[in-house]
Amino acid sequence: MILVTGGAGFIGGNFVLDWLEAVGEPILNLDKLTYAGNLETLASLKQDQRHVFVQGDICDRGLLDQLLAEYRPRAIIHFAAESHVDRSIHGPGEFIRTNVEGTYALLEAARAYWSKLEDAGRAAFRFHHVSTDEVYGSLGPNDPPFAETHPYEPNSPYSASKASSDHLARAWHHTYGLPVVTTNCSNNYGPYHFPEKLIPLMIVNALAGRPLPIYGDGRNVRDWLYVGDHCAAIRAVLAGGREGETYNVGGWNEKPNVEIVQTICTLLDELRPDPAGPYARLITYVKDRPGHDRRYAIDARKIERELGWRPAETFETGIRKTVEWYLANPGWVANVQSGAYRDWVVVNYTAR
Ligand code: NAD
Ligand code: DAU
Repeated sequence: MILVTGGAGFIGGNFVLDWLEAVGEPILNLDKLTYAGNLETLASLKQDQRHVFVQGDICDRGLLDQLLAEYRPRAIIHFAAESHVDRSIHGPGEFIRTNVEGTYALLEAARAYWSKLEDAGRAAFRFHHVSTDEVYGSLGPNDPPFAETHPYEPNSPYSASKASSDHLARAWHHTYGLPVVTTNCSNNYGPYHFPEKLIPLMIVNALAGRPLPIYGDGRNVRDWLYVGDHCAAIRAVLAGGREGETYNVGGWNEKPNVEIVQTICTLLDELRPDPAGPYARLITYVKDRPGHDRRYAIDARKIERELGWRPAETFETGIRKTVEWYLANPGWVANVQSGAYRDWVVVNYTAR
């Protein structure tokens, strides 16, 4: 079986569902169930014996040792993290704890377990570290996209904590020989995305008739990748990626934020017209995010050259599927908009 951390979050949850459908190999899913973890995403697996869920913290070394000894996974895919840049600005401590200390605990537990495997098991083992393009910093308008060789220049507490975890993963390979592979991916979007991030926030706010808050001038650029394509990339890297390597994963799809929001408004105008008028009337420019990175773009040629992976979705097909998913799943959205979610909205948006 494989061990997945953070498999009740957005990408981890999509990965668990995708893996069981595409590969079918059993999964041990370790997740603390923070505000971002949601077992409802995995409701379809309730009766599925191939999915074992354990609520627990990746910082808990005793638990990690116990799970590895009991379930003996052939690979670890490490998604668990604090993932929201704005939250890292308001409270960086939890990001250092989970992303840095938690990754350290997991690497150490993996090393202890891996070093005692028999030769074939040791050779086949993988520690797949899931990371982000934000570790590379911010690009100017005419800079080439981030290649794997780009220097690390993290700018937010979130990206600094992820950069630290990438360095730890690299060192555990270089020093101890742990078979680590790292992927650095651009912005994901798709089903089960927590509505604190740009795309789901805009969809749920528009449907509720609330303002669509765009930071700064709305011209910050991100590269957007449909989450199912990210899951396929991780499967490809797990199957054929070379240990000690890093692979950039991206959608070849750079867009300024305001264009993303306008596209969502246009789709909603078509799929769920609002008698009050076009959804774009709700667009509101608000105070910028401190230290806001201007542009991310990914050069994903290495993963294509070595492993034949390319995104299957275009932005047009992916965003349509996403908006349709949110329209079809109001129950999932209502349940994640709990009291704690409302507190966050007050913290992040009322003073802007
Ligand atoms: P998410 O915030 O939606 O989910 C994170 C999950 O980790 C949640 O289920 C949460 O309960 C769990 N978790 C948090 N702290 C934990 C702890 N201490 N122990 C165990 N579980 C814990 O995040 P996401 O967007 O799904 O991102 C997953 C990974 O992918 C992260 O490592 C993130 O840095 C990376 N990534 C995200 C994106 C993106 O666009 N969302 C892009 C590139 C890389
Ligand atoms: O690039 C990969 C990263 O993408 C991941 O590592 C992170 O985990 C993930 O959260 C995401 O980070 P971003 O900061 O790019 O995503 P977010 O959805 O928060 O913001 C996307 C852009 O939209 C960014 O330029 C900020 C802007 N934004 C965001 C919010 C929440 C707004 O203009 N208004 C908003 O209300």
